[in-house]
Order: sequence, then C-alpha cells, then structure tokens
Amino acid sequence: MPVPVLDLKRQYQEIKNEVAAAVAEVFENQHFILGKNGAELEKECAEFLGAAETVGCASGTDAILLSLKALDLQPGEGVITSSFTFFATAGAIHNAKGVPFFVDIEPVTFNMDPVKLKEFLATECEKGLKGVVHKKTGTPIKGILPVHLYGASCEMDEIMAIAKDHGLFVLEDSCQAFGSKYKGKRVGTFGELSAFSFFPTKNLGGAGDGGLVSTGSADLAKRLRKIRVHGSEKRYYHDEIGYNSRLDEIQAAVLRIKLRHLDKWNEKRRGAAGLYASELSKIEGVVAPSAPSHIEHIYHQYVIRAERRDALKDYLDSKGVGSMIYYPVPLHQQVCFEFLGYRKGDLPETEKAADEVLALPIFAELTESEIKEAAREIGNFYSGKK
Ligand SMILES: Cc1ncc(COP(=O)(O)O)c(C=O)c1O
Repeated sequence: MPVPVLDLKRQYQEIKNEVAAAVAEVFENQHFILGKNGAELEKECAEFLGAAETVGCASGTDAILLSLKALDLQPGEGVITSSFTFFATAGAIHNAKGVPFFVDIEPVTFNMDPVKLKEFLATECEKGLKGVVHKKTGTPIKGILPVHLYGASCEMDEIMAIAKDHGLFVLEDSCQAFGSKYKGKRVGTFGELSAFSFFPTKNLGGAGDGGLVSTGSADLAKRLRKIRVHGSEKRYYHDEIGYNSRLDEIQAAVLRIKLRHLDKWNEKRRGAAGLYASELSKIEGVVAPSAPSHIEHIYHQYVIRAERRDALKDYLDSKGVGSMIYYPVPLHQQVCFEFLGYRKGDLPETEKAADEVLALPIFAELTESEIKEAAREIGNFYSGKK
C-alpha cells in the first residue's frame, strides 16, 4: 500500500466549502491586499499564540528578514543560529546584511544546544564596552536566532537567560512550529520577535506563500507594519527603506479557516507520532524522535534517525512509502557559505544528524493503517525481508 509523505487533498476535503465561501467573498469585495481578513488573522493569531501582536508578511523568509530590520541589525553584525535548519534561516541573516554564526545542536530534539551556545560566547567571543564581539573576526554579535525545528521548541529558558546575560536579542524561527509549546506557553512568545511561515506544506499552511511575525512589543509591531510597506506610515512618505511584503487577503481568508482547526490537527499529528513510536520501538536500526515532557512537540515533521539511511530511503521509495531528508547538507557546509570559513567537523552533532535523519509521512489525516504500513516496511528493510 503506498503511503504519501504528505497529502494536502485530504485536509482540503474537510474545509472545502468554508474555503470556497471565504475566497468568493474576497473576490466579491475585490480588496486583495491589507484588508479585513489580514487584520482579523493578525488578531486571531495573536490570541492563539498568546502574543500581544502579530504582523502578516509575504513569507517565512521575509518574516525573518523584516524582523532583523525591525531589530536594527546593521551591516556586518553577527547573529548566532543553527546550521541544521532550512536554508532561509541563515539566508535571511545574510540578506539583512548580517553574518550568521552557527552553534551545534543537541542530538535529541535537533535544536540549538544552549550548552554549545554558552560555550561559543565564552570561548570564541569577548564582552567589551560595545557588547559582545567575535574574537577571531571582530564581528559584533547582536542576536540569537533559535529554530524550533520539526515542531519542537528549543530550550527557551536557557536561551533567554544567555541572551539577557550578553545583551543579545532573540528572534525565534518558529516557521515549523505553529502551536507548539514550551512549559505550557506557545513558541513565538519568548523572543523579542518570532517568525512563522504559511508555506502550503506547513502545519498551518496557506494557498501560496505567506508569513507572520509575532511580538510582545507594540513598537516593534508598528515598525514591522511600516517596513512591510516600503518603510512608509503615511502613503508616499518614506522615512526608511522597507520592502513590499504583505500577506494577501486570499491567503489570510484561507488561514483564518485553518487556524480554527489547528489545535485539533496538531493533536492528531501527536497521536500519529505516538503510534509510530510504539511501532518503531520494535525495530533495531532506527531511533524515533522524542522530546522532554516540558516540550510539546507538534510533529510538523516526524524525523527518525536511521542506520544506512540512504539505503532505507531507496527501499521505502521502491515500496511507495514517502520519506524526505530534512536536511542533507547543513548550512555551514553549503557552497554559498564557504566564505564563512567553517570546515567539516566543526559541528559534529549537526553533521551526524544530516547523515542520519529521515522524515516519515506525517499529517493530521494520516491513517493508522498507513502508519503501520510505513513502520512495517521499515521493519522489513532491517530484518532483510526485501
Ligand atoms: C525553519 C524554517 N525557516 C524559514 C522558513 C522559510 O519560510 P518560507 O518558505 O515561508 O519563506 C522555513 C520554511 O520553508 C523553515 O522551515
């Protein structure tokens, strides 16, 4: 039985009529940018997350870029992040004219390791009158960009404490973690700002590109609203140079409907993860994902570690069981970041993860028999029944 890695058509069946009505209304109104749906979605997301405000924008990548601008990152300033993430995290730092610095991950959740973060600041940086400076390059370090990868929160208490000690901002990359919690609080409510993505395959996905920034600061929200419209508060008057980065009304209309289902869908993902864990526990050769109990993983991705990962993937492909490798090449080893000067071996846990991870099918509508089938084929691969 084939098992798709993701099937968005099933989710669409559940909400088809609501979506049709909401999209038709947008067309009836012929108001496509910065209208009622965008404003309502911002309020509803703020309420859902427990954030003071949220600001829609054109993508998760832009949510990071606009946030770095709102935080006043200056050309040549450093931001510490994870190398084990989607490219956009560090791409946006570079495009904001900043310099990414990578620290290693901790092996269970694949997220930035606070111990490594502390070590980096203690050994590779020094605190001076002007703040933290990277000793070797002289780069001033301004912020930390932790990524809640696959739907599991980073250790935010530790990261926030380190940031406070060093006078650094925290911008959360929550693009894979809408609704995920850390010690009972939603991610996106810890740092000064937090970036979300509504890319269609995300656990809260639109019908095209979209993004959002959440914040506890009315001033930062105001600044973001200005930056997303070319730096203008009063039309045709510009006191800074911004971008064209809005969330359009069709996206917002669709997302408002999906947001109402999100807790239920996230719960179903958690249920699917529970069943996978019990099925996979019988198989030697794979390690199921997990998180400590204070982290409420929403399994945006269900990512195992697998011995002979590439051969397993080929086998699953041949059996029609979908799987993906997120991410085969860590950012510090990407050709375009060679100029940063990292070498193989610099981030051993990150490099090990890139060789071992495999994402299995996961979405709210995935059935019990599909999960058992995927697990059965993994079992067949390791028991040699192929
Ligand atoms: C961790 C992470 N950061 C940033 C992004 C960028 O989001 P988008 O694709 O909406 O630009 C994504 C999603 O693709 C992501 O997974």
